Amino acid sequence: MAGRLLAISDLHIGYPENRAYADALSPGDPGDWLIVAGDVGEVFADVGFVLASLASRFAKVIWTPGNHELWTLPSDQVTLRGADRYEALVKVCRRFGVVTPEDEFPVWDAPGGPVTVAPLFTLYDYSFRADGTTAAGPVAENAGAADPVAAVPAAGDAAVSDDGRSVALAAALRAGITPADEGQLHADPYPSVAAWCRDRVETTGGRLAAVDGPVVLVSHWPLLRGPVGALRHREFAPWCGTTLTAQWHTRHQVLAAVYGHLHIPRTTHHDGVRFEEVSVGYPREWRRRGTVPPPPRVILEG
Ligand SMILES: [Fe+2]
Repeated sequence: MAGRLLAISDLHIGYPENRAYADALSPGDPGDWLIVAGDVGEVFADVGFVLASLASRFAKVIWTPGNHELWTLPSDQVTLRGADRYEALVKVCRRFGVVTPEDEFPVWDAPGGPVTVAPLFTLYDYSFRADGTTAAGPVAENAGAADPVAAVPAAGDAAVSDDGRSVALAAALRAGITPADEGQLHADPYPSVAAWCRDRVETTGGRLAAVDGPVVLVSHWPLLRGPVGALRHREFAPWCGTTLTAQWHTRHQVLAAVYGHLHIPRTTHHDGVRFEEVSVGYPREWRRRGTVPPPPRVILEG
């Protein structure tokens, strides 16, 4: 195979500049695969259109949802919430040949042998605590008032107690952060996002255990807390993953762990495993680094 295994995330196509960028993404080789690690956007039809469009250009597109795809905005014609919304997105992806976390894991035919590419949907459960993280790096996602789709949670939400959510939310609000998922990412039929997360981790962990040989893990939220330490606003950490997946990169023969969400694109190593944050981010973020958004990252050469 001459193509490459490429990865990108956090396209956030609600911004016209980012939509134009996504519409122009094209393979450098007819054999290129593209991983899209979540946060394509919020509007259901637009997300489906862009993924279908990418699938028509790349040899294979592998998608896993981010928090933004799971939001139910009042302005969206598709009013599905929680698991129903996710399942509807999966249906759209399957119609256009996009691989989802619900499908058989595709196998990349690398020169050194087959590599499984595993899209994982694991969510977050507020178990990443703010303490212990460092205060450096770009602005946390949705932490600024300039985000046109950020919303302040209803006052009553802070009083709801489940798994650490109320404590995390109170700390975030005190720090002036409004985690945009609250009030927009619904967990139906689960009682909480944390409960949905636990179910996802159990199911996904079971599927991963059956994978033999080298694998590329793909998730929107980082699988371990290490990368979250780079957030400028550490109070945002509880919305960035779960400690339940902290050992997954050591239990398997992981060639790379691809993620996004933090909008801090970089390569790091944890326990000897390569972690690739492949986010584009909002225009105000990628413009700090260059005049155009970053190209997809090469995860494996063909
Ligand atoms: Fe995200």
